[in-house]
Amino acid sequence: MESIIKKAIETHILEREEITALLKDENINETLFYAADKVRKEYVGDEIHLRGLIEFSNICKRNCLYCGIRCGNKNIKRFRLDEENIVTLAKNATQKGFKTIVLQSGEDPYFTAEILANIISRIKKFNVAITLSTGEMEEREYKLLKDAGADRFLLRIETTNPYLYKKFHPDMSLEHRINCLKTLKKLGYETGTGVLVGLFGQTFESLANDIIFFKEIDADMIGLGPLIVNEDTPLKGGNNGSLNLALKMIAITRLLMPDINIPATTAMETLHPKGRIMALQAGANVIMPNVGDYNEKKLYSLYPGKANVNDDTDTSKEKITALIKSIGRVPSTSFGFRKKV
Ligand code: 5AD
Repeated sequence: MESIIKKAIETHILEREEITALLKDENINETLFYAADKVRKEYVGDEIHLRGLIEFSNICKRNCLYCGIRCGNKNIKRFRLDEENIVTLAKNATQKGFKTIVLQSGEDPYFTAEILANIISRIKKFNVAITLSTGEMEEREYKLLKDAGADRFLLRIETTNPYLYKKFHPDMSLEHRINCLKTLKKLGYETGTGVLVGLFGQTFESLANDIIFFKEIDADMIGLGPLIVNEDTPLKGGNNGSLNLALKMIAITRLLMPDINIPATTAMETLHPKGRIMALQAGANVIMPNVGDYNEKKLYSLYPGKANVNDDTDTSKEKITALIKSIGRVPSTSFGFRKKV
């Protein structure tokens, strides 16, 4: 195992079987995390980028089995922020020093590309980078949003296993989602993807394939986290994903894609109070705190027990800055684009 890790540190290339072996072996975790932390430091440094997240609508036409805002969930109250509100939240966040605004929502048909483009061009005036996470769209629409000023796009592939993809995403197509990612890349977006760790039926081999996919499409950002069972979904009564396995996925991704941006996701913190710190010390270099001081944000519940949801923007920024410093890292003041090596 040590020799596989050494190979990863030196070449950033591993065979599928080698990734699988690392994922399976529970005795090499500390060595793996240490190696990823070292590669992270060497390639992207000690800076941690803060991306201010605004979750602006929990209305979604999709029905993904694990997700709390799936259209089939009749137990949640739906909300949609209006344009003025979104722009104001973004403005406040930039005044507090955020250099990136992430606009995330369910696939809400109200927010057409035209409406979103308008919001983007208004926010762009605040001199921030804009990341979108609004789901699958046509090329024409992605282009409109890019032209309006969007810089990055997050679209997790969730799993690259065709059988699992089909099982968890009714009426959706893995092929189409992959094409969306390719389109985003082609249009010049910094493109983020990622997977859920702990989908029932997922194997180590399947996760190894996911990492190979990240490399193949040359993702600029990888966001991944453990599945957290939402009792208002068909997965109720099932088991959560493993935090440890999610950390190993982060670590191996960092070893193989040393210059990309990797967030320590909220789902990590939901499973363990130190989950995000663990991720930051196993390869991650980004945190995406919620920046909206609005009442509806508790309703954006993809999964239960979302950490820090009660904090206002000032509190969360202070907490995160303290956390970053406590582990000897530095809050970044730059836009935090990928510096490709
Ligand atoms: N547990 C963990 N992550 C989830 N997501 C959706 N539902 C859950 C859940 N129950 C993730 C998906 C999606 C991202 C925005 O949130 O991977 O891409």
